[in-house]
Amino acid sequence: MKNQFKVFVILTISIAIFAFACQTNNEPNLTANSAEKQTYKSVGVVKSIDPDAGKITIDHEDIAGYMAAMEMTEAVSDAKMLETIKAGDKVEFEIERTGAQIVITKLTKIGEIVVINGGEIYKMNCAECHGGTGEGAEKGISLLKGHALKHSEKEYIEQVTNGEGKKMPAFKDKLSAQQIAAVVKFVREDLQKNSSNEEMPEHQH
Ligand code: HEC
Repeated sequence: MKNQFKVFVILTISIAIFAFACQTNNEPNLTANSAEKQTYKSVGVVKSIDPDAGKITIDHEDIAGYMAAMEMTEAVSDAKMLETIKAGDKVEFEIERTGAQIVITKLTKIGEIVVINGGEIYKMNCAECHGGTGEGAEKGISLLKGHALKHSEKEYIEQVTNGEGKKMPAFKDKLSAQQIAAVVKFVREDLQKNSSNEEMPEHQH
């Protein structure tokens, strides 16, 4: 009988500790009167902002427990949140859902805007070998004459994406497809604009 009592006391204490531990692990906002309110977090890239409507469009990654990756347009809880955010920013956000109602309650910029300026991309990635204006340098050929003028835009994109020969590096891991398209456009429409006396028919290597 005495032993049985001991077991009972120990069991009771364990249950009490267990219950307490569970309680402290609970989310603080899961109180009785907001039982339906759920909070979710994810990250994404801002596509556009509508300050008048107080809405933002985000191309987001999976929202764990709620939504697969997609583009969504939602209202923010305070339009001021949109003042420091621009299209192209990478953001971390928090949304609150109450039934079918969704509102973005937190928005934090976590990344720089991706440069899609062809001229800037050229300066940072290509000028070293092809020269500041495409004239060529020790490590790379001129893009303003001869051979280089005879490729199509599609071929340029392919060459920059996957590299060419032994010395032209592949940029597929360094630049996005959009950035490659932009730098190729810059080479062809800006750098080469005075070099087109020569015809530019498609040719094969
Ligand atoms: C490390 C030096 C280097 C860098 C950096 C580099 N290139 Fe090149 N590139 C070369 C060399 C060398 C060739 C010639 C390759 C061959 O034909 O064997 C070449 C070839 C090319 C060609 C093909 C021309 C032709 O006639 O076939 C294009 C287009 C080109 N580069 C564009 C770019 C662009 C745009 C960038 C920046 C995103 C870039 N390159 C960065 C060295 C470089």
